[in-house]
Amino acid sequence: MQKPYIIIVSSPKGGVGKSVVSINLAVALKQMRYNVLIVDTDIINPCVGLYMGLNDTSNGVLDVISNKIDIKRAIVPHPSSGVRILPGNLSRTITTTKDVKITTPQIDAFMKKLAGLDYDFVIIDTQPGIEFPSALTVLDEAILVAQPNKASCISAIKMLGRYGKAKLKCNLIINRVRNRKFELDMREIEEMAETKVSEMFPEDEKVQVGVAEGVPTFSLDGKAPFSRTIKDLAQMYASRIGTAQGEEADDRHPLVKIFHGLIGKKRK
Ligand SMILES: Nc1ncnc2c1ncn2[C@@H]1O[C@H](COP(=O)(O)OP(=O)(O)OP(=O)(O)O)[C@@H](O)[C@H]1O
Ligand SMILES: [Mg+2]
Repeated sequence: MQKPYIIIVSSPKGGVGKSVVSINLAVALKQMRYNVLIVDTDIINPCVGLYMGLNDTSNGVLDVISNKIDIKRAIVPHPSSGVRILPGNLSRTITTTKDVKITTPQIDAFMKKLAGLDYDFVIIDTQPGIEFPSALTVLDEAILVAQPNKASCISAIKMLGRYGKAKLKCNLIINRVRNRKFELDMREIEEMAETKVSEMFPEDEKVQVGVAEGVPTFSLDGKAPFSRTIKDLAQMYASRIGTAQGEEADDRHPLVKIFHGLIGKKRK
């Protein structure tokens, strides 16, 4: 068993698209036959379960962090995609971080638990501003989500700097791009950030339809503009760890597959 590749999805500002990027990246990697766990560490407004149409989130990440329940018991399958989910706790009494008593040793222990799980990828969705400084050694990469405006990019660049100091590899992605005159374009953002932008995600109504229906956009419509960009991002991460450990992706030409099917020949 090898350690899963752990990616944290973060942003200093709220509502920029961390959760939709997290869930769709998870589904895209799963479709490439990787074993994927998505973890919702948004303590105040967890929404991975809601966005994925999960009804029962009675056990969640807080129960695991506080050792009330074993991590494997809290993980639930997402029936239609096969992604595994460690959901957040949808408690009405948690309205600020002060309502939750979590210690740094508890977070460290939780991150070590994640690192000990048998998955190819673990994707951690976070609440705005959370950097998990104590857990950086367990993380393999960060995704920083921003929108194409100055306020969003300036705050993202600060966070990028902090990740840089911690020597954590970080990919800056820009979401909800409409290519309007008043938006910052890719070149402007790269100049400001002194780094490359990994992906520009378009504004896509299918994202909102997916959220409203509790179905990841990638499952709803794999050819939607947002889904295509997610696929590029998933391919980049797939290249980090190599071939899926599950069934190998079948890249034979469709006609070859049909012919091999007829003569009963399987892929080697
Ligand atoms: N590319 C997009 N096109 C259209 N709508 C989008 C896109 N990305 C995100 N949205 C919409 O923006 C809203 C916020 O997205 P999301 O919940 O993923 O943000 P977040 O960064 O996780 O927010 P929070 O900081 O509250 O956790 C959602 O309603 C989603 O439908
Ligand atoms: Mg979110």
